[in-house]
Amino acid sequence: MPAGYDPPQRRATRIAADDTPEDAVAQPPTLHVSQHPAVLHKLAILRDEETEPKKFREVVRELSWLLGYEALADARVRPLTIRTPIEEMEAAELGERIGLVPILRAGLGMVDAMLELMPTAQVWHLGLFRDERTLRPVEYYNKLPDSASVDLCLILDPMLATGGSATAAIEVLKKWGAVKPVRIKLVNLIAAPEGVEAVTSAHPDVEIHCAALDRQLNEKGYIMPGLGDAGDRQFGTGSSS
Ligand code: PRP
Ligand code: URA
Repeated sequence: MPAGYDPPQRRATRIAADDTPEDAVAQPPTLHVSQHPAVLHKLAILRDEETEPKKFREVVRELSWLLGYEALADARVRPLTIRTPIEEMEAAELGERIGLVPILRAGLGMVDAMLELMPTAQVWHLGLFRDERTLRPVEYYNKLPDSASVDLCLILDPMLATGGSATAAIEVLKKWGAVKPVRIKLVNLIAAPEGVEAVTSAHPDVEIHCAALDRQLNEKGYIMPGLGDAGDRQFGTGSSS
């Protein structure tokens, strides 16, 4: 095993820098950390500070496709009769009405890939930004439709840091009508243990799909090691730290 390599199984459950495998805390059953080699490979490119916005956007899109694929693994399908060039057969089509909820700005980069996977999904933009001083989310845009005619809502945001934005988005969706049997899933690229804890304790019914569970937040609320500021790195703004 190469020096410094962190086996995915351990990486998925470790929450502190100096944890030994014995210290590892079991992850909540609603948290799904991808172990796919293609995800690990692309994540390294995404995190690298040398990765320019164009490449960064490309990799956000590719990772979103892979995570969306995993998040849809339990989606319902319904039978569909089709005819191949050879004969008629019973095939299947996605049987869920899906709403994609990208959190502006950074979640925008995840939308196209998700729409490729789920072409009939609707996209409902939600504008939230984190107040840099309080780290609390501020809502500034909401494009949810009038009624909650949906089976599955996927909240799209590359980063789950304190969990403030995700928790606020889930609350907005639930108040709007996304309550049982409607399911809500959170799709993130990188999650911090603090954010996972905040979401799972407030909303144990919400599943989280992510590419990595990182170590912890720094004093400015950034994920360590993380990737810096996901919005800035996609759109070429700010200093990204
Ligand atoms: C980032 C990120 C999340 C939020 C995560 O957005 O895209 O929405 O921070 O942090 P939290 O878990 O502590 O709430 P940001 O507020 O920087 O806005 P932006 O996407 O417009 O850059
Ligand atoms: N938002 C980001 O874009 N990055 C972080 O590390 C935390 C919040």
